[in-house]
Amino acid sequence: MAPHITLYEITDGFFYDTGRDLTGYEDGTENPTDDAAADAAICTSDGLAGSSFVAVQQWQHDLDRFRHFGPDRRDNTIGRRISDNEEIDDAPELAHVKRTAQESFDPEAFVLRRSMPYADSTGEGLVFVAFGHSFVAFDMIMRQILGNNDGIADALFSFSVPLGTSYFWCPAMKNGEPDLSLIGG
Ligand code: HEM
Repeated sequence: MAPHITLYEITDGFFYDTGRDLTGYEDGTENPTDDAAADAAICTSDGLAGSSFVAVQQWQHDLDRFRHFGPDRRDNTIGRRISDNEEIDDAPELAHVKRTAQESFDPEAFVLRRSMPYADSTGEGLVFVAFGHSFVAFDMIMRQILGNNDGIADALFSFSVPLGTSYFWCPAMKNGEPDLSLIGG
């Protein structure tokens, strides 16, 4: 990719336990799988077919603060029980999974998440990564996280802050190589 892409920043991510966020909660449970994953993440339209759009958003956690919440508030922040990963039906509206329930959007807003924790001299948290066949689903979910539609901001903000968002286009693969023909490669 070197002639086409300039590297200006690296954040090393890692796989934590069975795919958990550093809060200890399992991340990726409600990801679409198989054909549904491809439908969510890969473009099918002429020209863009096989490519994907990816949003990368770095969140810095205050884990000391999160630990001080106590077990019930922690579960209600995410909207799932840490003990068995079950969704809490009567979790508050600001619980993260209440804000982001993909089938609750109109149209449904499915993305394929591949987030990874990071921990370095700048802090620790989650590098959120979501692939989509466009940025529309990510954008709809993000508006709900921010409370743009109903004034209710996601409980994530009680212990974590987004440092920045980057948007990328991932080319399709052709003969085992990224197909860069659309960008003159
Ligand atoms: C501090 C950052 C974040 C953390 C720690 C976090 C953590 C989690 C956890 C633990 C779950 C429940 C298990 C699962 O289904 O994966 C979840 C679900 C989800 N998150 Fe996040 N997340 C973060 C940021 C975001 C952002 C920025 C988005 C924006 C698109 C997002 C979208 C989703 C979606 C779509 C679900 C599944 C909801 C469902 O359909 O039930 N998350 N997240």
